[in-house]
Amino acid sequence: MQTSNQASTPVFPPASGMRILYSKSQISERVQALGQKISADYAGQSIVLIGVLKGAAIFLSDLARAINVDATFDFVAVSSYGRARVSSGAVKLIKDIDNPIERKHVIIVEDILDTGLTLSYLRGLMLQHKPASLKIATCLDKPERRLVPIEADYVGFKIPNQFVIGYGMDYAERYRNVEDIRLFPEEAGGH
Ligand code: IMP
Repeated sequence: MQTSNQASTPVFPPASGMRILYSKSQISERVQALGQKISADYAGQSIVLIGVLKGAAIFLSDLARAINVDATFDFVAVSSYGRARVSSGAVKLIKDIDNPIERKHVIIVEDILDTGLTLSYLRGLMLQHKPASLKIATCLDKPERRLVPIEADYVGFKIPNQFVIGYGMDYAERYRNVEDIRLFPEEAGGH
């Protein structure tokens, strides 16, 4: 017999049954390459990596260790899709940067560049602080989904319009700790 509590509990299928889009080792190889590119581009300079919570936390921690120039971290948090995964189009800042970035070389680090609403909002916001330069690094890019014109300077992988989880990315806050990037099944709510 199903209790009312069970009936309202969402189903989270195990990640082990989801198709791997990029394996742990493929991600690691790509992140190393991005780190080398960033290190070359900013050789002899200091950079500020601004991670977008929570999705980019794991990508930032790996990317930062693949970069060999002087770097500091900061984090911002914005309103997310929540469980619905449908963007309202309105982005809200929940947590701002802690330290000034004026005249600093800044890279915003994001998990997925999707419609572009989040990053164009954040880019506008960060530019108000007058950084010396501002670039964007994203683990994944879904160019088909773009609603506003914005491109990242450093892209891990370009992917089609599929919902993914793992490597920091969630479905209803689950699966962030999955090591591979996997396709979330459509029948469970992935688009
Ligand atoms: P944008 O503002 O539409 O570019 O939204 C970007 C944010 O949407 C990302 O930072 C993710 O948090 C979330 N998002 C977009 N696609 C996916 C996905 O396939 N899996 C998990 N989160 C996603």
